[in-house]
Formats: sequence, C-alpha cells, structure tokens
Amino acid sequence: MTDSQRVLVYGASGHTGKFVVDELRRRGLQPIVAGRSLSRLAQFTDPERRAASINDGPGLRALLNDVAVVINCAGPFLDTALPLAKAAVETGTHYLDVTAEQPAVQQLYRELDAAARSAKTVVMPAMAFYGGLADLLLTAVLGPEKSADEVEIAIGLDRWWPTEGTRVTGARNTATRLVIRDGALVPISDPAATGEWDFPEPIGAQSTVELPFSEVVTINRHLAVGTLRSWLNTAPLDDLHDPETQAPHGRSAQRFAVEVTVGSGTQIRRGTATGRDIYASTAPILVEATARLLDGRYRGSGALAPGEAFAAADFLQSIPDADFEAAWG
Ligand SMILES: NC(=O)c1ccc[n+]([C@@H]2O[C@H](COP(=O)([O-])OP(=O)(O)OC[C@H]3O[C@@H](n4cnc5c(N)ncnc54)[C@H](OP(=O)(O)O)[C@@H]3O)[C@@H](O)[C@H]2O)c1
Repeated sequence: MTDSQRVLVYGASGHTGKFVVDELRRRGLQPIVAGRSLSRLAQFTDPERRAASINDGPGLRALLNDVAVVINCAGPFLDTALPLAKAAVETGTHYLDVTAEQPAVQQLYRELDAAARSAKTVVMPAMAFYGGLADLLLTAVLGPEKSADEVEIAIGLDRWWPTEGTRVTGARNTATRLVIRDGALVPISDPAATGEWDFPEPIGAQSTVELPFSEVVTINRHLAVGTLRSWLNTAPLDDLHDPETQAPHGRSAQRFAVEVTVGSGTQIRRGTATGRDIYASTAPILVEATARLLDGRYRGSGALAPGEAFAAADFLQSIPDADFEAAWG
C-alpha cells in the first residue's frame, strides 16, 4: 500500500474503534491501529501499532506523517478532536471523527477551516450515526435545493446499551444544546419540548424529547434551514440514565430509525434510514467516507460537513451494511 492510501484509526481500542478497524480490513484497507497507549493496542494483530498522547503535538504529527486519512474514534471529542485534527492538517492528512458533541464540531469549523483549505485537506467531524447520517439524509431529501423553511429530525432507538465512552462524553459535554431558528444557531428552549413520533416498525409510536446532536451544526454549515428541531425518543434515555445498563459486547440487537421531514402540513417530504446498532453502523459510514477521500469522490477542502463534501444520495445507497436501509422522496 502506498503512503497515499494509509489509514490510521486513533482510539482503535474502543468499542467503536474496533468496528472501524474490522470494516477497514473487510474493505481491503489495512489500518494502522493507534491510540494513547501501546499496551491498549496489544490486542490487535495488525502489523502497525502507534501511540501518542493527545497532549503531545510532535508525537501526533509523527503518528500521521505518512498517513492519508486519520479516523478519530477517541471520545470525548472536546478533549481529542482539536489536537488530532490540527496535527492532521499540519501533516496534510484528511481527518474524520464520530463526535456527537456540538461544541467539538464548532471548534473544528472555527479553528481549522482556513488552515485545511491552505493544506488542501478535509476536516470532517461527526461522520457517524449521530451527526453525519441525518446530515446526509436531509441533503438527499433536498436534492439540488440546499434550503428548507422547516426541518425536523427524529431518532428512534428501541433501547440503548451505552459504552463507557458514551457515558464519559455525555458527562463532559455540559454546553447548552443548539437548534436552528430563523436560520441561526440558538440555544434550545428550557425545559426541552416533548412530543410524539410515529417511527417505522419495530420502533413504532414513541414519546420524544427535543435533543439535538452534532447534525444541527453540520447542517447549518452547508444548508439554509429556517427552523430545525431534533428529537430523540425517551425510552433509550431511561437505559442511558440507568447505571445498571450493561455496555454492549460486539454488535448488539439494538434497532434504530432516523427520520427527516421537510416542510409542513400536507407538503411533507421525508427521508428514513433504519438499521441495527448505532455503534456498529457508524463503521460502514465512516469507512465509506474514508474510501471516497482516498479515491477522490468528494468536493472541496477545509472543514466540511458530510453532505457538503459527498454526493449524499449516492453515498447513502453505497453504505455496505446488510442491516442498513435508506429511502427518501
Ligand atoms: N456520533 C455517533 O453516532 C457516535 C458513534 C459511536 C461512538 N461515538 C462516540 O465515540 C466515542 C468513543 O465511543 P466508544 O463507544 O468507542 O467508547 P469506548 O469503548 O469507551 O472507547 C473510548 C476510546 O477513546 C479513547 N480515549 C478516551 N479518552 C482519550 C484521550 N483523552 N486520549 C486518547 N484516547 C482517549 C479510549 O482509549 P483507551 O483504550 O486508551 O482508554 C478508547 O479507545 C464516544 O465519545 C462516543 O460518544 C459517537
């Protein structure tokens, strides 16, 4: 493999990182497994293992020196995204991560866009279930329009077995969440609104709460949306808030649905994606993005949103996951 195709996974030892390493291997892209400690990488048989602390700028640059794409799976991303993405830009490496944290995305857009444009690299946070999937789905629903007065995003999970990383990240992310109103990012109302959403089976009719993730910031980056509200059903939040809920082992039986609606009244256009396990299904999304960064099927450079860089409809139809389906109209 030439240097121009080398892919490094930082945070490879985590639950999500392992899915990503497996998916890269499955697609014939031998990964370099990396993280903050070599001892945590001993579980991998991959020939190349590399370690550097997130606080070690020269070490991170050395990690990425001969790498084409770095995939950051080490969260909280409020701690890891900026130092690793900065090292990526400085070494001419494309950067992807899986953050659901809105401030982590805002930080990369603010701090690294100009430098990434100069370096002709892509910095793309939130290329994951939370964030990128809704961004791509909305972009596909809108087609060439790129604007909408009213958008709702609803995520339905039949249950949630959260990882330690999810729990730590949730505790670390105390920023007020943002929605879009009158075309601008504004704080969510307090208390958060509640509602009902009729998801496709097996999730069905659910109580929901307004709970926006990183998709709000990525969408605001490249689409002109008047009002955007994001909802999550409340049942999985009970699992998340219960300290007794077990972490997942391997790919779980969890089912999900992501719905995007555009418009109001009788003029509603809808996009729906369904699948199994929000952690496992993040891997084929990320690796599809990686493949496209490697073979040139993307637009632009700088800090980019998923639907800004990739042909959204084609991307969603290409995700190689037997449990994943997406449709819109
Ligand atoms: N947006 C989405 O849809 C989505 C999907 C999946 C995951 N995520 C996010 O991805 C993150 C990881 O999730 P996970 O399920 O893989 O959790 P996990 O199994 O607990 O793994 C966490 C990983 O992050 C690494 N890490 C944590 N803090 C670090 C630091 N300061 N420096 C370097 N490495 C650090 C850990 O390294 P050690 O092994 O050395 O401890 C480990 O590799 C979480 O923030 C989660 O919310 C988001």
